Amino acid sequence: MSRTRLALIAALTLTAGSTATALAVVPAGAAAAAPACTVDYKVQNDWGSGFTTNVTVTNNGAAKSSWAVKWTYAGTQKVTNAWNAKVTQSGTNVTAANESYNGSLAGGGSVSFGFQGTYSGSNAVPATFTLDGVTCNTDSGGTPTPTPTDPTPTPTDPTPTPTDPSGKVDNPFVGAKGYVNPEWSAHAAAEPGGSRVANQSTAVWLDRIAAINGVNGGMGLRAHLDEALKQKGSGQLVIQLVIYDLPGRDCAALASNGELGPTELDKYKSQYIDPIASILSDSKYAGLRIATVIEPDSLPNLVTNAGGTAGSTDACATMKANGNYEKGVSYALDKLGAIPNVYNYIDAGHHAWLGWDSNFDPTVQEFYKVATTNGASVNDVTGFIVNTANYGATKEPFVKITDSVNGQTVRQSKWIDWNWYVDEQSFAQALRTKLVSAGFNSGLGMLVDTSRNGWGGSARPTAAGPTTSVDAYVDGGRIDRRIHAGNWCNQSGAGLGERPTAAPAAGIDAYVWVKPPGESDGSSTAISNDEGKGFDRMCDPTYGGNARNGNNPTGALPNSPLAGKWFSAQFQELMKNAYPAL
Ligand code: BGC
Repeated sequence: MSRTRLALIAALTLTAGSTATALAVVPAGAAAAAPACTVDYKVQNDWGSGFTTNVTVTNNGAAKSSWAVKWTYAGTQKVTNAWNAKVTQSGTNVTAANESYNGSLAGGGSVSFGFQGTYSGSNAVPATFTLDGVTCNTDSGGTPTPTPTDPTPTPTDPTPTPTDPSGKVDNPFVGAKGYVNPEWSAHAAAEPGGSRVANQSTAVWLDRIAAINGVNGGMGLRAHLDEALKQKGSGQLVIQLVIYDLPGRDCAALASNGELGPTELDKYKSQYIDPIASILSDSKYAGLRIATVIEPDSLPNLVTNAGGTAGSTDACATMKANGNYEKGVSYALDKLGAIPNVYNYIDAGHHAWLGWDSNFDPTVQEFYKVATTNGASVNDVTGFIVNTANYGATKEPFVKITDSVNGQTVRQSKWIDWNWYVDEQSFAQALRTKLVSAGFNSGLGMLVDTSRNGWGGSARPTAAGPTTSVDAYVDGGRIDRRIHAGNWCNQSGAGLGERPTAAPAAGIDAYVWVKPPGESDGSSTAISNDEGKGFDRMCDPTYGGNARNGNNPTGALPNSPLAGKWFSAQFQELMKNAYPAL
């Protein structure tokens, strides 16, 4: 892939070289009262866990053909991507060196660059800056000259759009409104009380080839993008598309089986991905930020359900053996990632699926393999999404994985069952760290689908559970009220979760509503259809479960329609149990 999302490329050779040269040319005149250089470091936007900064460097010495500015952070700031300079960081020390196109810096001239970073705690401006080894903002006597403060502070841009040469921003959700799907919104608004949520942004699911042009007269992809342009106005807008039509789809379940058979990879490429890529490449849509969710459940299914475990299925073993999930996902990443305004997020299951070491590490390897073969590159991956269409709590306020009860770790409770995570946010953050160390870009951002993981209402615990046993403690304190964390279909007791939010926590690009609340996960009895969907008894409230939910009851609501169809009773329940409450 040609695109380079991050400018965080090792620039150490250049930096070292330019430092030596510059030291030799610092003129005697630099000893005059004016500082040899000034560095104006302005935090433009700060949302508590991340920030964007603009830096202007003025050279008061002799002209330069290359330059490097250095500073040291007192806090935990980490630069994640930069524009108009090559920025590298080692511990708290940061070096910003010129790009090939802005190395020349005249005497008296200025140059600006910018970057985005993350932090926790304080985000103080660094005390000292050097330009090619010479301390800036000080006069000849070494007394700091205060950074000139602008008497009329530049109004902070509410929609910062740091761009790098690829045209992509680090986090497309920052400073952007979310697309409201008029079709979903109309369903929601038609429900009693539904107007309280009908203006939320939800994802558009391209769940079959026909969805590209619109199913049964419904909106197709162009209609959604045209509407997105209208909603965007002069600001920024992000529209989320779920790419969901792999050959042999949903191999470990039946409710969302799709239209393509296990071997129909060519059809997936030429009749599904290619037409989508061609529409998204239309210059008309270049101003939209398009976030894709790539193929929910597919790669995790290859890791845990394709052989050798109790939950394995023949269908997943087939998809592992024929390689068509991997080839399809690589192809989608490559084709869609090449489009400058498309941001790919690969589906990464959820904590109660992949949170054990035996699943976690192989999943990271699987992701890396798929993102680096068949034409894909890590630069095609903006990030990953967890909890898509699932019910895991974003945060468990009363159960921490490090808690113990009477000397016994909560990990040995029945609910946690030796998992390393109790909630989605801690899982997403740990997964992000592991993915970066495996070779993904350091600016990787995570999404959490919070559409149905609120777990509010009268059954929500308000304090930690009793310390009589690990099970009493965990079951009394957990807000996730499912019978088993492997249950996934139309869960009884669930509520709407956090409303879509940009950059809510370190490493998290956004909380998003990918599964549109009110759309069924699957039918509770067999319903014939022409979409390829099967009947999965995990959606049947009378079923006793299978190996993937520890043979527990399903906790599914009764009388549910086919996956994707409007399910009014569920929508009402989600509103009733919303947390935060509506
Ligand atoms: C279904 C899709 C539907 C999506 C969103 C999936 O479970 O299989 O057909 O578009 O949910 O509701």
